[in-house]
Amino acid sequence: MLTLSEEPHNKGSHDACPQHGHCLSLLPHCRCDSRENTGCCCCCCCCHCILCRFNLGHLIMWFFNRNGSSGFSASSTAEEVTRGIDASGLTAIVTGASSGLGCETTRVLALRGVHVIMGVRNMAAGRDVKDAIVKEIPAAKIDFMELDLSSLASVRKFASDFNSSGRPLNLLINNAGIMATPFMLSKDNIELQFATNHLGHFLLTSLLLDTMKKTARESDIEGRIVNVSSEFHRYPYYPEGIRFDKLNDQSGYKRFLAYGQSKLANVLHANELTRRFKEDGINITANSLHPGIIATNLFRHNVSLANDNPIRVFLKSLAGLVLKNVEQGAATTCYVALNPQVKGASGEYFSGCNVAAASSESRNAELAKKLWDFSMDLVQ
Ligand SMILES: NC(=O)c1ccc[n+]([C@@H]2O[C@H](COP(=O)([O-])OP(=O)(O)OC[C@H]3O[C@@H](n4cnc5c(N)ncnc54)[C@H](OP(=O)(O)O)[C@@H]3O)[C@@H](O)[C@H]2O)c1
Repeated sequence: MLTLSEEPHNKGSHDACPQHGHCLSLLPHCRCDSRENTGCCCCCCCCHCILCRFNLGHLIMWFFNRNGSSGFSASSTAEEVTRGIDASGLTAIVTGASSGLGCETTRVLALRGVHVIMGVRNMAAGRDVKDAIVKEIPAAKIDFMELDLSSLASVRKFASDFNSSGRPLNLLINNAGIMATPFMLSKDNIELQFATNHLGHFLLTSLLLDTMKKTARESDIEGRIVNVSSEFHRYPYYPEGIRFDKLNDQSGYKRFLAYGQSKLANVLHANELTRRFKEDGINITANSLHPGIIATNLFRHNVSLANDNPIRVFLKSLAGLVLKNVEQGAATTCYVALNPQVKGASGEYFSGCNVAAASSESRNAELAKKLWDFSMDLVQ
């Protein structure tokens, strides 16, 4: 029996096909009950899915399954890239942990023993995520604290509460984000995507740095800051980068270019942090990454995933061939946060669990310094 499904089949199982090596979770377009967990579409003589028959899915899987020099690929999952790592004793903050990639990042860090503090703006959603993870992993150490990154006052309160708790901080995962919203201003009158995706994280990082430095010094364990950026960082407003002079210009506002600008800022922020840490001999790294393309709530302002008209369903099933699931989407974050291979790497851009080339603007040290000064002025 065959059904089109929004859910990757074998969700939760990431075994490779014993005969053909494909990751079963990479076959989101069909669900063939008779196959169960025994193999991939190649093994399945009774699969009636047209995409399987023409092997388009296999071609795409082969492409995404190629391992890079890390030994992992774009199809690796967060559990796979952290397998065997004992991270008990580490403490992490994950922003935007109430859904999507932040939720899976929290789950997998907790699975590896990390004490995770979820920074969430919706406390009820934070509680639900915590309860679900603890139900699955009874030993998980998870707390949640209120954090609205679009409000500088909220960021200050979160950082102050965290710092005064006396907890150490090894890992800061700047993950929360919004994409391509209509033009809006934050509570501090700053264009909302820049305010949420960059400025809130910029202030948060600055306010938590002393705690991170102290933790790194006392534990002699490298601290890691991970900025979840996007390939959209290549598409800011100007070839030269940030619209410093027209940040709040509604008339010239383009929602995707504003998103690209905020994601470019994520990469520049990590690079400038790296420069400063190296200059001061601080044992903390800062990297940025593209998680892949994953159908999460991020698309809420753009695509109606709830719409079930047949064309959408068809497009979604096609898209399912190239989209990652959240287990894969959180992999690069968890790899950069925990994997020993990444020790010492800083100012790098990762994609598909490997070092990748970021745009030339994002590697512009002058631009990174200018953004730092600009951001510092805005938060003061
Ligand atoms: N999904 C993709 O294809 C993709 C591709 C490239 C990059 N990314 C990046 O990956 C990151 C995670 O996105 P996702 O795909 O997991 O999307 P998501 O499911 O929408 O998760 C985003 C998270 O950020 C939180 N958030 C939004 N605004 C916030 C604010 N003002 N204060 C605090 N938290 C806030 C959301 O909280 P609420 O639940 O309360 O809204 C949510 O928990 C983002 O930085 C995104 O830019 C995603």
